Amino acid sequence: MMKELALHVLDIAENSVRGEAKTIDIIIEEDLEKDRFVLDIIDDGKGIPEEMLKTIRNPFTTTRTHRKVGMGIPFLNDTCMMCGGKLTIDSTVSVGTKVHAEMEHKNIDRPPLGDIASTLVNLFSSYPDICFRYQHSYKEAGWPEAQVFSLSTEELNEILDGMPLSTPSVYLWVRDFLRDSIAALKDPDAESDEES
Ligand SMILES: Nc1ncnc2c1ncn2[C@@H]1O[C@H](COP(=O)(O)OP(=O)(O)OP(=O)(O)O)[C@@H](O)[C@H]1O
Ligand SMILES: [Mg+2]
Repeated sequence: MMKELALHVLDIAENSVRGEAKTIDIIIEEDLEKDRFVLDIIDDGKGIPEEMLKTIRNPFTTTRTHRKVGMGIPFLNDTCMMCGGKLTIDSTVSVGTKVHAEMEHKNIDRPPLGDIASTLVNLFSSYPDICFRYQHSYKEAGWPEAQVFSLSTEELNEILDGMPLSTPSVYLWVRDFLRDSIAALKDPDAESDEES
């Protein structure tokens, strides 16, 4: 069983990469009020044929050639089922794929999100020709609205102004920037605290 949801994100996003996506959206929605944890990964890749889509939760459905099982989707499906949720996959050949994973936020079997910042910076630096867009929202009971953080590799490249993500210091800066930004979602007063 997967210890971190961030590793599921990596798995599903790697499917999109192998599906020749040009753009990959990674969207995380945490709503503690509704007790929901939602992960969407949406790509514009080659899509999954209808026949294959029917059996995709089965480990024996894979187009890999060097081994006979594919575990990415079955694993995430198991995690969702264990956590009072479900996995849905919508896909159209030549258009793209949307993987939608839902879990109960407070379910004791729900793995923690884990080190999503490292997962993201790994993806960004491994596939510089793909546009990644990350969006993460977080809402606790009683908050008037969710706090939202979003970053695309397009925006990131503008900030970095030509410095490659593969440079170790840049890589670490981006990782820490993501870590801090995502951690700050849980603390809506963080900015005003700094000002006062
Ligand atoms: N986003 C996607 N675009 C195109 N095809 C996909 C996508 N996601 C999954 N597939 C197809 O579904 C199959 C099963 O995916 P799954 O992640 O379960 O296993 P895998 O990728 O084959 O192996 P593993 O995840 O264990 O490395 C893939 O082999 C691929 O053919
Ligand atoms: Mg896979």
